[in-house]
Amino acid sequence: MALLAGNWKLFKTRPDVEAFFKELEGLEIPASHKCAVAPSPVLLETAVRSAKNTQSAIQILSQNIAYKSEGAFTGEIGVKQLLELGVSGTLVAHSERRQFFGETDATAAERCKIALENGLDVLFCIGENLEERRHGRFESVCESQLEEVLKVAGQFPKSMMTEKLIIAYEPVWAIGTGVTANNQEIQDSHSFIHSFNLKAGYDLKILYGGSVKPDNFGAISKTPHVSGALVGGASLEAKSYKALLECLTRPLSSVNS
Ligand code: PGA
Repeated sequence: MALLAGNWKLFKTRPDVEAFFKELEGLEIPASHKCAVAPSPVLLETAVRSAKNTQSAIQILSQNIAYKSEGAFTGEIGVKQLLELGVSGTLVAHSERRQFFGETDATAAERCKIALENGLDVLFCIGENLEERRHGRFESVCESQLEEVLKVAGQFPKSMMTEKLIIAYEPVWAIGTGVTANNQEIQDSHSFIHSFNLKAGYDLKILYGGSVKPDNFGAISKTPHVSGALVGGASLEAKSYKALLECLTRPLSSVNS
């Protein structure tokens, strides 16, 4: 199963969301593929409704989830509220949450836990920043981010994790910068993460993220241990989203030729 997930961040208004789904009406998603978008919280209801109205199989994800189910947590998004809306998954620990909103490995693990306990899919984001990469700390940073989430995974049946828990590897220096990691860097990073997961007994899907565009995604999506992408900017427009899906579904031979 390969996955294309769009992260809409703090973009779009309700008419934009409706227009996106209208434009993608009839989009064919092969059975071996999954598509998703993560709108900002106030747009989730519109997105769920628009997907339904256009009979779209695009899954609606939240960008975040509170680590408590309810209580005095101003500004948070509760799991019950997400389920009530028909949201079936969530991003956790996106680097912008880590960078600007104080997300730690510990709080991220708690968010992951409550989402999984309630049957939501989790796209758990990891990745090193530029300084960490320059100092050769990619492996230790990713290891410590993964360790916490794998501890959570250990509380659930292994077979369930293969479907419900997806790792999104996004080098922070490649997010929104137009700089993509090169294919060798992506291959090395994904192989490392894959082996680390395997050693812990998990064969989790790993998405790549960071300046993915229709013109680079063909090659990226065919890299070993890359099961798709988490895409920001290039997922906003329906035309570009469709082009990304075409890259993902295209056979390897057509990328190399
Ligand atoms: P980008 O964002 O594709 O715009 O670099 C990716 C992300 O933040 O998930």
